[in-house]
Amino acid sequence: MTTYKPKSILITGAAGFIASHVANRLIRNYPYYKIVVLDKLDYCSSLKNLLPSRSSPNFKFVKGDIASADLVNFLLITEEIDTIMHFAAQTHVDNSFGNSFEFTKNNIYGTHVLLEACKVASGQIRRFIHVSTDEVYGETDEDALVGNHEASQLLPTNPYSATKAGAEMLVMAYGRSYGLPVITTRGNNVYGPNQFPEKLIPKFILLAMKGQPLPIHGDGANVRSYLYCEDVAEAFEVILHHGEVGHVYNIGTKKERRVIDVAQDICKLFSLDPDAVIKFVENRPFNDQRYFLDDQKLKNLGWSERTTWEEGLKKTMEWYTTNPDWWGDVTGALVPHPRMLMMPGIDNGSSGSSQQTVMTKSGSQSRMVVPSSKSYDAEHQEGSGIGFKEEDKPNFAGSFYSKTKGMLLPISVEMAKRNCRGIWNFTNPGVVSHNEILEMYKLYIEPNFKWTNFTIEEQAKVIVAARSNNELDASKLKSEFPELLSIKESLIKYVFEPNKKVHSNGVA
Ligand SMILES: NC(=O)c1ccc[n+]([C@@H]2O[C@H](COP(=O)([O-])OP(=O)(O)OC[C@H]3O[C@@H](n4cnc5c(N)ncnc54)[C@H](O)[C@@H]3O)[C@@H](O)[C@H]2O)c1
Repeated sequence: MTTYKPKSILITGAAGFIASHVANRLIRNYPYYKIVVLDKLDYCSSLKNLLPSRSSPNFKFVKGDIASADLVNFLLITEEIDTIMHFAAQTHVDNSFGNSFEFTKNNIYGTHVLLEACKVASGQIRRFIHVSTDEVYGETDEDALVGNHEASQLLPTNPYSATKAGAEMLVMAYGRSYGLPVITTRGNNVYGPNQFPEKLIPKFILLAMKGQPLPIHGDGANVRSYLYCEDVAEAFEVILHHGEVGHVYNIGTKKERRVIDVAQDICKLFSLDPDAVIKFVENRPFNDQRYFLDDQKLKNLGWSERTTWEEGLKKTMEWYTTNPDWWGDVTGALVPHPRMLMMPGIDNGSSGSSQQTVMTKSGSQSRMVVPSSKSYDAEHQEGSGIGFKEEDKPNFAGSFYSKTKGMLLPISVEMAKRNCRGIWNFTNPGVVSHNEILEMYKLYIEPNFKWTNFTIEEQAKVIVAARSNNELDASKLKSEFPELLSIKESLIKYVFEPNKKVHSNGVA
């Protein structure tokens, strides 16, 4: 069996869930390895996950993005990295149904940058362990007796798994083209302490702790396989030292559980009546039935699962009940379909205010900021003293002011999330004149509409203060949000098209 001894390991994404366990384990077991963690501290991460390692002399944390080629090149050279364990990714399937571009950017482009950097640091990298997922195989038939093995076809079904499969293709190509010593892992679901509560098990535990309903997508018959985080960290320890270059390893278990069984087991731990607490909600756009892995290849390296489901679930429950504030206020993550990432300019439909949620960082704590842009309605009448709650559906049906605010909000929320700093011209690119707007009104709403313009002198007599006319250069915002429409296109799409009264024959 191969035995590899790393010296200086770069672990990406280790302020997140799985990689924090891997980093803490390697620091604990191998004090002579240098461990450098690179993490951009996204909403699902916490520096607290790395507390056991922080005082170790062989540990270094760097806040930064894997997509920053300069930073990655610099780290590889200055830290003399010989091994990369690449975990950093956007990981939540629900989010990928919202802002899937973030998945392409982080999961595919981010991986590509890392691979290019390895090429630059030619010959220095002796292992590149790429962390992928069972979801790249797509769903397994309900009645299949044999799990997907490492040579099975990749048939991803959702944007998350598609980006993970895309990243794998790049990893494979860099192995072939440049001889980069790559190893890929594809894992089943992982659970345990340190996991951000948008994922099923910590979410149900936190909801059960609050005595709130446990929402199940669809009928709960979807099957998942769960591994305890410490067992998975051990699997990475084994693959790091004994994995064969050029190979893929499934990290799996044959034990499977329906989502409804998971909910019932959590109810049992909290002495809750499942019939009263479990609530069935709308399913995901596509929800794979099952991910069944053949785990023999990794077992041949000497790894096996140690923690039983009952033991692991109990430990997880104890950790969350002992650390109820680890993640701060995570109300937005506990809704049935959390979307912590947002797509600017897209109406995210009916799943409510969670989509207006942004995580900001204050020290190592996460905090939720829920902006509101709502107008009075029948249930929230003016003067009634009944205000909109965070869970209420956004209602932008009021003035154009609130509509505009509703459209800009997703962008400002996303900017906060991306940690955009400095001064930004916050507007749609381009300009539109009053006359152009009136032309549009005529074209879309009232074909007989006529108007007469003031002269500048006439206008000066009726307005209180002189108007300031100018054009803001929005190219900085546009380069951050390429999908941002020009002001004219935006007015047509969001104001005139939805209110169109004129038919194609030009008659209202
Ligand atoms: N959680 C699971 O059940 C599971 C199962 C199989 C595979 N995986 C894979 O394991 C890896 C880790 O998953 P997890 O659940 O621990 O994830 P996580 O969401 O808990 O953590 C991801 C971490 O990556 C960081 N990150 C994201 N994009 C980054 C970027 N561009 N630059 C730097 N840091 C960035 C985040 O800040 C976060 O700390 C992922 O690649 C995931 O696809 C997860």
